[in-house]
Amino acid sequence: MTHDRERPRPAAAFDALGAEYEKAFAGSRTHRRSLEWLLARLAPGSRVLDVGSGTGRPTAETLVNAGHAVLGVDVSPVMVELAARQVPAATFRCADVRDVPLEDASFDAVCVYFSLLQLDRREQRDLVRRLARLPKPEGYLVLATVPLDVEDVDAVFMGQPVRVTSFPAQELVTLVEEAGLEVLAQEASMFTPAHPDARPEPHLFLHCRRPAQPRMG
Ligand SMILES: C[S@@+](CC[C@H](N)C(=O)[O-])C[C@H]1O[C@@H](n2cnc3c(N)ncnc32)[C@H](O)[C@@H]1O
Repeated sequence: MTHDRERPRPAAAFDALGAEYEKAFAGSRTHRRSLEWLLARLAPGSRVLDVGSGTGRPTAETLVNAGHAVLGVDVSPVMVELAARQVPAATFRCADVRDVPLEDASFDAVCVYFSLLQLDRREQRDLVRRLARLPKPEGYLVLATVPLDVEDVDAVFMGQPVRVTSFPAQELVTLVEEAGLEVLAQEASMFTPAHPDARPEPHLFLHCRRPAQPRMG
């Protein structure tokens, strides 16, 4: 039965991919533009959380190079080891982000680039709600995902078995708005990772702000 299948550990696929992931996604201009969007709004020396920080590139590297303080959290020990080596000016922790105690309103910005897809829908909703409280009022949260109407689908990602769950674009927008964020800008694109097993995939980047006052109603 479907619910009896054991969920592949997210760390397993990313431990196996390591630097290959970075190479395959290095060409994403939308990811670069998203970081530029954030950099244009951050005050000097801002504190940024990078959820599912991967190899540290491009996100943590771009942010520390611009003078910001970055905490990256990733569940894959291989990714964390690579990131710590490649971006020594950032701090990385190897953990499931859901297990890390993080104070509300303690970051100027939170980045969530493609790190929700291994969680089921309830877990994604719960995590987005929690992450939405981490930016200070008027701080930012940038979230990118593959906006598909899929739930618990077994897939092969760059040769690795993964179980993928996501939401269609409009449901994702509703989800972040219900978590209390304003969507200031969004960009959708198609991207083909530079990998022999890769196919074009839709990407959606949501650039959000935590309002100064909680939204009513
Ligand atoms: C698709 S990669 C994206 C990496 C990076 N954010 C980027 O865009 O280049 C997803 C990353 O999220 C990590 N990840 C997945 N679920 C996680 C969780 N619950 N807590 C922390 N990291 C997680 C994976 O280990 C992987 O390194």
